[in-house]
Amino acid sequence: MSSFSSIFEFIRGLYPKSQDEMIPLHEPRFLGNEKLYLNECIDSGFVSSVGEFVDKFEQEIARFCGSKYAIATSNGTSALHAILHAVGVDRDCEVITQALSFIATSNAIAYTGAVPVYIDVDLDSLSLSPNALEEFLNNHAQKQDNQCINKHTGKIIKVCMPMHTFGHPARTEEIAKICKDWNILLIEDSAESLGSYYLKKGVKTHTGSEGIASAMSFNGNKTITCGGGGVIITDDEKLAKKLKHITTTAKVPHPYEYYHDMLGFNYRLPNLNAALALAQMEQLPVFLEKKLEVAKAYEDFCFKHGFEFVSARADTLPNFWLNAIKLPNKQKRDDFLTQSNAQGIMTRPIWMPNHQNPMYQHCQHDGLKNSLYLQDRIINLPSSVRIS
Ligand SMILES: Cc1ncc(COP(=O)(O)O)c(C=O)c1O
Repeated sequence: MSSFSSIFEFIRGLYPKSQDEMIPLHEPRFLGNEKLYLNECIDSGFVSSVGEFVDKFEQEIARFCGSKYAIATSNGTSALHAILHAVGVDRDCEVITQALSFIATSNAIAYTGAVPVYIDVDLDSLSLSPNALEEFLNNHAQKQDNQCINKHTGKIIKVCMPMHTFGHPARTEEIAKICKDWNILLIEDSAESLGSYYLKKGVKTHTGSEGIASAMSFNGNKTITCGGGGVIITDDEKLAKKLKHITTTAKVPHPYEYYHDMLGFNYRLPNLNAALALAQMEQLPVFLEKKLEVAKAYEDFCFKHGFEFVSARADTLPNFWLNAIKLPNKQKRDDFLTQSNAQGIMTRPIWMPNHQNPMYQHCQHDGLKNSLYLQDRIINLPSSVRIS
């Protein structure tokens, strides 16, 4: 018997399936008004770029996250790209981010012509470390004409973009202070953190509200999905207007003329996807409760059976989008991955840190000690909302 048989048995108990069916990492659940709203949308004829579902979904997201504005986009990557473009990130700039992320974080930076600079993560939040950020800036940056300049490349470090890994909130309050001191804009990659909060003195604050803007994803594997989709949240009215404009081809409203007053993108969310997204939003509170139950069950099991579960940091309430365990070394990680997947339990390692991919091998980084340590040890476990 493998040393992992107890946890495999436990996962099979959480997600009962017939012998030959795979237990997925994260399955979508369509348990509410999805079909009703989709039919309404089709019947209306407004399935594409305009329609009331887009407006309703944006209002609902803004309300849920406590942000003033929400702009729906075609996916999370386009949301990130649009924000970076809107704040003026270009080929003369660098963007500090974590290497330990899904590749879209780096890709969105590269689309602007800017270069990612990789900073290490914290071992507990798995997200960009303010200590590592401060150390990097003290060693490699200088303040010049209200800008932060990389002493080695001469480029402007314009933005810092932490990511809330697997829904665990990054230490953004501390990161924001450092960014302010160094004249760096803070943008949050909140693709994975819809429904993740900071808890401070009894007050719940949604992730993504510390930076000038934040992007989320509604890809098929996320806490809620609309097939493909994203959203930008911000409290900045001017930025919100610009983002709505550039994500909808920068067309100036006119009864018939096609006039576009700046470079724009076709990044809007189709009304059809928004219909699905709105129905999913209605179920989000229940999804979050059920995901918390799964996380607690994993946490209890791990505690009793000697596995290290990635728990919530103090003063945070993660959405536990993907639950994670930390194994003692790479050999154990690989054994776990091989055995679980062979037995029909879908598990995945954390991403290869982005700088290990060919497009980003040249990027400056700080050694990424924790990122490399976690790469060898972290595994995601099946985390779908359970149907009871
Ligand atoms: C951290 C992170 N950033 C960005 C994205 C991009 O989102 P999308 O797939 O909707 O483009 C994702 C997820 O897919 C993600 O996990």
